[in-house]
Amino acid sequence: MDINSLFNLQGKTAVVTGGSRGIGEMITAAFLANGVKTYITARKAPALIDKASELTDKFGGECIAVPCDLSTNGGIHEFVSELQSKETSLDILINNAGAAWAEPLMEYSESGWDKVMDLNVKSLFFLTQQLTPMLAKNASFENPSKVVNIGSIDGINTAAFESFAYSASKAAVHHLTKVLAARLIKEKIVVNAIAPGPFPSNMLGAAVAHDYSIIAANNPSQRVGTAEDIGGLTVFLCSRAGNYTVGETITCDGGLVARAGHNLSNS
Ligand SMILES: NC(=O)c1ccc[n+]([C@@H]2O[C@H](COP(=O)([O-])OP(=O)(O)OC[C@H]3O[C@@H](n4cnc5c(N)ncnc54)[C@H](OP(=O)(O)O)[C@@H]3O)[C@@H](O)[C@H]2O)c1
Repeated sequence: MDINSLFNLQGKTAVVTGGSRGIGEMITAAFLANGVKTYITARKAPALIDKASELTDKFGGECIAVPCDLSTNGGIHEFVSELQSKETSLDILINNAGAAWAEPLMEYSESGWDKVMDLNVKSLFFLTQQLTPMLAKNASFENPSKVVNIGSIDGINTAAFESFAYSASKAAVHHLTKVLAARLIKEKIVVNAIAPGPFPSNMLGAAVAHDYSIIAANNPSQRVGTAEDIGGLTVFLCSRAGNYTVGETITCDGGLVARAGHNLSNS
């Protein structure tokens, strides 16, 4: 029952997609600091390789960069082959890589729609499918493997930006999480999702010119999210403490979704 047993991740092996920056980097930092051998992926190889060595220097452990483009089944296949050449089993998959696209309603393009849906929904499904045998290999009901999908509060609330495909893709991630959880628990794999609110990153930064002050002021917690917020929740879900939490989408947003419901009930 002690903290060290409940939340211990020592010796586990994880994949964090989109681990080169933003939320993926924050989750990778939490894993490395807690003894998880972590494979990170992104398309831009130099940035990914630099990040793996920067995080290893800072947090210790083993961080392995595997550059790949996960937006196509070919790219997913290449990544899975590469991982299989290095590991026979996997304990944790964090489906974090994602894309956003915002355009006014009447100009919203098919290419923007497809880019978002392909990476955020299709790739998440097929990567999970392709890694299921490795995740199932050492899994048991006492020690299940874990999949954590990174959704968004934009899949729960209506978004501030005209990012139609993004909102729809994240709602799909949340429901797919429940559907996959129901199926994969038979393989002793526990699937959950996190719906983040605002975290400093390229994705959010591009929308607000990297000035998070207004976003922080508008948050019920008066700040944006930190590595401890998203890392702590991910560690919980991936540790012994999270074994009986299955198919949930848990917000990590400082209270934005809670406040939206409050506003409605007061209207
Ligand atoms: N930041 C927020 O406020 C926020 C809020 C809610 C949800 N989220 C979700 O959190 C996740 C991470 O977002 P972020 O804000 O950290 O974004 P980010 O800073 O833009 O990072 C995205 C990561 O995904 C990688 N990536 C993008 N396209 C890829 C592809 N085709 N194949 C492989 N890797 C790819 C990027 O590297 P390359 O560009 O080198 O490929 C990068 O490592 C996303 O699913 C996002 O929707 C973020």
